[in-house]
Amino acid sequence: MADPMEGWDGEFVVRHVDRPSGATIRIAVHRSSPEAAVGGTRCKAYADPDDALRDALRLAGGMTLKLAALGLPRGGGKAVIDLPRPLPEPERRGLLLRYGALLESLRGVFQTGPDLGTSPADMDVIASRTRYVHGATPEHGGAGDPGPYTALGVHAGIRACLRHRFGSDGIRGRSFLIQGLGGVGGPVAARLAADGGAVRFTDADPAVRARGEAAGYDWVEPEDALATECDVLAPCAVGGVLGPETIPALRCAIVAGSANNVLVSEADAGLLRERGILYAPDFIINGGGAIFLLGAESLEWGEERIRLQIHAIGERLAAIFEEADSRGVTTLEAALDAARACRRDLLAR
Ligand code: PHE
Repeated sequence: MADPMEGWDGEFVVRHVDRPSGATIRIAVHRSSPEAAVGGTRCKAYADPDDALRDALRLAGGMTLKLAALGLPRGGGKAVIDLPRPLPEPERRGLLLRYGALLESLRGVFQTGPDLGTSPADMDVIASRTRYVHGATPEHGGAGDPGPYTALGVHAGIRACLRHRFGSDGIRGRSFLIQGLGGVGGPVAARLAADGGAVRFTDADPAVRARGEAAGYDWVEPEDALATECDVLAPCAVGGVLGPETIPALRCAIVAGSANNVLVSEADAGLLRERGILYAPDFIINGGGAIFLLGAESLEWGEERIRLQIHAIGERLAAIFEEADSRGVTTLEAALDAARACRRDLLAR
């Protein structure tokens, strides 16, 4: 088996086995900034230890690109907690406390926040052991849930996509498929529906179905989601959903969602382009959460500055689409070039 770290261009990985719970914690520091590395903590059960490591490595690299593209003075990193089984309380709390102590022992080289499978309440637990955590609840002195802010950026990004593709950014009368009605997908769906969009949704957790239907969205079975006809497909859950196996079946005009690493590989941006599907590069459109957490907690930005910065994601995407069209390259290539230009000296390859 190939070593997942072979060819990875990041700095280091910390692997910590939490004996009481049996969970394995992996912290990948990718960086490309002299500043600390930041990135969320993902918590889920992986089928294979190499999958967890691969996820951490790729997500950390994505954070570097995201932070560079946003001009935020931090490096990229990511933590992945691989659960052996669903952990009930108080075991989960114990694991998070020990994870907090691990972060503290790293003395701030990596600072974390919420991600898929972790919440602001989890950050409160971690924050009782370390200061190197963003996104604790306001009651515990944190900025709270980044999800609605990530959603704000995704919404601005979707409008930029509609403008580029259809010449108008009107939401009314457009159709949307939200994959994953979680901390970001939920507020994205709510905004689109409030604007008069036709919202369909799916979720890996069947229990979420009733919640979405009560909000007035139409349920689509997970296995039918990607091939559902719609104007905008918004992947807002796990990554790796669009690749050679799934792209031929897509029936959307636009792919624009919050999921990190939505493409199986960079080459898949070419497949989307060949199919005439406009792709909003993930690390650009999903930057709202990072802007919020770092803006509010590290850079002393007020609410208005944060909102302006998040809104600018739309303009950033519009510029990337223009650039891609004029150079005849994929939107991903144009976005990667833009990120490298923002931090040319550090991201030079
Ligand atoms: N996990 C989110 C993201 O991938 C939010 C986050 C940003 C968490 C920065 C920690 C630090 O962007």
